[in-house]
Amino acid sequence: MTTHRVGYIVGSLAKASINRKLAKALVRLAPAGFELSEIPIRDLPLYSYDYDANFPEVARAFKTAIEESDAVLFVTPEYNRGIPGGLKNAIDWASRPPGKNSFRRKPTAVIGTSPGKIGTAISQRELHSVLSALNSPQLHAPEAYIQFVPGLIDDEGGVSDDKTKEFLGKFMQAFHEFLVEAG
Ligand code: FNR
Repeated sequence: MTTHRVGYIVGSLAKASINRKLAKALVRLAPAGFELSEIPIRDLPLYSYDYDANFPEVARAFKTAIEESDAVLFVTPEYNRGIPGGLKNAIDWASRPPGKNSFRRKPTAVIGTSPGKIGTAISQRELHSVLSALNSPQLHAPEAYIQFVPGLIDDEGGVSDDKTKEFLGKFMQAFHEFLVEAG
């Protein structure tokens, strides 16, 4: 079986991030054939095109990690009905310098959780739009808006609710099928 190396990006910088818990759950529920590892965004400085002539090492490493992954999974919160600033900054780094967009033709999937009823739907829409601009082929279904209630996922990624657990497993299965079909 072909192994797909998937880098996952957690869109939150918070220590107690519920999206990091969700990412850990997805790693545990991923089907065989997936090799998941985190691509960190925390240490990236704020992007400006002044860096284009000479990217700092941390940004080069970030771009290399994306380019060496077969696909990228975003696990993101919604902040003020949009993409968290730290995540948007990371994507801007990846998209540059001109002609060196690391997301070009890079398959992606998006998922997220928040305590609110629409579970990050708006930030996910925004993120899909940004990824379209970067020419990334994206998994569009199933959509995965996870409403986080206390205790739903523990720090190790254990999921307490069976239906949620089953759904997250199916989401990862769909992502795997998408990558297999993409070749
Ligand atoms: C939020 N939160 C939030 N939730 C939501 O569903 N829609 C929103 O627009 C916002 N806006 C928002 C802005 C800011 C600045 C913060 C800090 C929070 C609540 C948010 O879902 C909650 O804090 C989650 O815990 C965030 O996920 P992480 O960072 O814990 O993974």
